[in-house]
Amino acid sequence: MQNRSAHQNVKLFLGESRCQKGIFMKNMLVTGGCGFIGSNFIRYILSESDFKGRIINVDKLTYAGNPENLAVIDKNFPDRYYFIKADICDRQAMAMVFEKYGIDSVCHFAAESHVDRSIAKPDAFIKTNINGTFNLLELARFHKDEIILFHHVSTDEVYGSIDDGGYFTEETPYHPNSPYSASKAASDHLVRAYGTTYGIPVTISNCSNNYGPYQFPEKLIPLILLNALEGKSLPVYGDGLNIRDWLYVKDHCKAIWTIMKNGKRGETYNIGGRCEMCNIDVVKIICNIIDKMMPEPGKQPRRNLIVFVKDRPGHDQRYAIDFSKLQKELGWVPDESFETGIRKTIRWYLDNKEWIERVKSGEYVSWIKKHYNFLKTV
Ligand code: NAD
Ligand code: DAU
Repeated sequence: MQNRSAHQNVKLFLGESRCQKGIFMKNMLVTGGCGFIGSNFIRYILSESDFKGRIINVDKLTYAGNPENLAVIDKNFPDRYYFIKADICDRQAMAMVFEKYGIDSVCHFAAESHVDRSIAKPDAFIKTNINGTFNLLELARFHKDEIILFHHVSTDEVYGSIDDGGYFTEETPYHPNSPYSASKAASDHLVRAYGTTYGIPVTISNCSNNYGPYQFPEKLIPLILLNALEGKSLPVYGDGLNIRDWLYVKDHCKAIWTIMKNGKRGETYNIGGRCEMCNIDVVKIICNIIDKMMPEPGKQPRRNLIVFVKDRPGHDQRYAIDFSKLQKELGWVPDESFETGIRKTIRWYLDNKEWIERVKSGEYVSWIKKHYNFLKTV
């Protein structure tokens, strides 16, 4: 970390990407790039966007991280894609990454992300989401002269639950209700504070629920999808009337890249799908589509597998995002509707059975057993 000139000697980049004021991103650190959204982002940015630089993906490979998600990228972009297995909480390891690769921009996804796990055991959430983010910010501060942008990927859950029919705007006060959302809220505050206090160019995005390819099957949509395919029970918490605003993951990735290129530094942008649905409807739609795609003559409709189970403690009733700032200022709107996005998602899981089998590791099995122990069929 002491030798600042080392990274200045690294000039091995193939291209650059213009962002605000004609500045270019050449060496982008992506944290948590082997997870669900991170891997979709890296695939999008290298294969489909106008980004021309290098991606340096740092991931600890927790149960949620899977380098297989990026196997094709690894093969197709040998000079533009680098993977380093490291913990963002390890300051020394991260300092070496900043030095070696001449990091000039950061897109920070790495986090513990599952609310139920945060309720069962919050420790890793505090460590990674708060301390890990702090570490990265300290390194960005140390490399302030080189850092063009630190983009922090956050969640709408920091705003709490909105039960009165209104919408979360960027001005909505923070009111997190789970250890997960509290840890994300803390990290958002740190990022903003580093922007204000140290002048680090930061942007923050707060997004609603994502779904799509490569999502770990602990989250509602892939869990229901896989259980429905296997004829297992479909656990719906409480009365199933909690509302989430669903966004296809690629639309989230496009929004992040739009903000990184053109977003005003120091600003927060909400991202959403304008697609509020209650959980029970989401589950029924998935069942209906699978019944049509994979008919099982003589068998009961899959919606008969729905089981209402004990509610999540502190379960937020409704999330609803107003993303008009992003739409008006930067021109982003989602491309996919729930109808088109969920069909693509189901198709992807049907076509990627090997991925599913490999993801269902011992850790996955033990989580499902422990968390859903009341369901004999799971
Ligand atoms: P995920 O759990 O699928 O992936 C997280 C990744 O981070 C994994 O690859 C994991 O190995 C890695 N990681 C965890 N701890 C780490 C550490 N200490 N050091 C390095 N890597 C580490 O999560 P996701 O759903 O892809 O979410 C990514 C980000 O987006 C998170 O910050 C989350 O809060 C945010 N977000 C998610 C959603 C959603 O619906 N999934 C919505 C809005 C925002
Ligand atoms: O809103 C953004 C957030 O969305 C992200 O920040 C989180 O990282 C991500 O995990 C997600 O959080 P949720 O808690 O909303 O997602 P999850 O898929 O766990 O649950 C969605 C809804 O479905 C929620 O109301 C709880 C309910 N649920 C979930 C599971 C896993 C069930 O009814 N049954 C289940 O088995």
